Amino acid sequence: MPYTVPKLSDFSASALDSAVRGLLSALEQESAAAGSENDWKAFRDRWMARKNGILTQLNDLWLKAAPRDAKRDVGQRVNELKTKVEQTVDATLARIQSGASSGKLAAERLDVTLPGIRRPIGAEHPVIKTMNEIIGVFRNLGYSVEEGPEIETDYYNFEALNFPPNHPARDTQDTLFIAGQESKELRDRLLLRTHTSPVQIRTMQKMKPPVRVVCPGKVHRNDAADATHSPIFHQIEGLAVDTNITFCDLKGTLDHAMKALFGSSVKTRFYPSFFPFTEPSADVQISCIFCDGKGTRDGGPCRNCKASGWIELLGCGMVDPNVYGFVDYDATKISGFAFGMGVERIAILKYGVDDIQLFFQGDVRFLEQFG
Ligand code: DAH
Repeated sequence: MPYTVPKLSDFSASALDSAVRGLLSALEQESAAAGSENDWKAFRDRWMARKNGILTQLNDLWLKAAPRDAKRDVGQRVNELKTKVEQTVDATLARIQSGASSGKLAAERLDVTLPGIRRPIGAEHPVIKTMNEIIGVFRNLGYSVEEGPEIETDYYNFEALNFPPNHPARDTQDTLFIAGQESKELRDRLLLRTHTSPVQIRTMQKMKPPVRVVCPGKVHRNDAADATHSPIFHQIEGLAVDTNITFCDLKGTLDHAMKALFGSSVKTRFYPSFFPFTEPSADVQISCIFCDGKGTRDGGPCRNCKASGWIELLGCGMVDPNVYGFVDYDATKISGFAFGMGVERIAILKYGVDDIQLFFQGDVRFLEQFG
């Protein structure tokens, strides 16, 4: 039952006390029940409307009806109640506007219908993905993985790989040298490794044949960045040393690897080349995967292989016996082959990427395509 102002017949102090208590308790209850601004408006009007609001009714039912000798007391009580009602009405609005109607701040209230916070799971970087794929091909052939430092000495990057000091083959490597190394012997001077081949030496220093390893990692060259060059890129080195390893094993291994990476219809071709640490050396070409080795595409020359039908992909060769001299292997008893390939170059071909810089710019729209 909502509160209604009682008519008074007894105007004694104790009867007035009890009437006032009843009114105040109704005021508190109705204030607490108001949860919105609309509730509050109804609450305010019920108590303060000039026409028939509870305060107006107090004037009529209590004050005007009071006998002369009680008027003073009743008038004072009605005035106090008026002040109390006004204060309560104001406080009720303040509470509603601060969002504290249920005893909690609005920001703390839990809305279980809101969508959750989506955390994207990310994608493997295409370079790492390609690297892992290449490693997987060689793992299946029984190779294990070795790594070496990116900051190398001249000895491992050059000398032990049969690049003698001042040999012109060093010029092909566009080396970034660490400054302030002049006081050291040449072989101890530091540089950023230009290839993963130094890991061949480090591996042979710590293991005796048979050796079958692949060595993935980052390498550095003093190259200006453009669509096909980056001063930082990745290579995977391969090394197999055992008794009776021949060029035939090298050809069979790389032919298998290229077919595993690019599809079984891909052909390989070995082209004479030069590296100081292999003899003989070869560049490996694969039949163009864009024109199927035909050299023509869509009625014109194939742009990807410059109409030759072949794409050059990696370097390789039989380990030069001079290299074994640096690692205490007996070149009369063992033989081996090595190869080195650029990971970005393979990723570019596999995924049809036209600019190597895309791998390093960190644009999520590019990267998430590899997820
Ligand atoms: N290290 C060579 C380079 O970066 C690539 C290479 C060629 C590695 C022949 C080899 C190899 O192991 O046998 O230019």
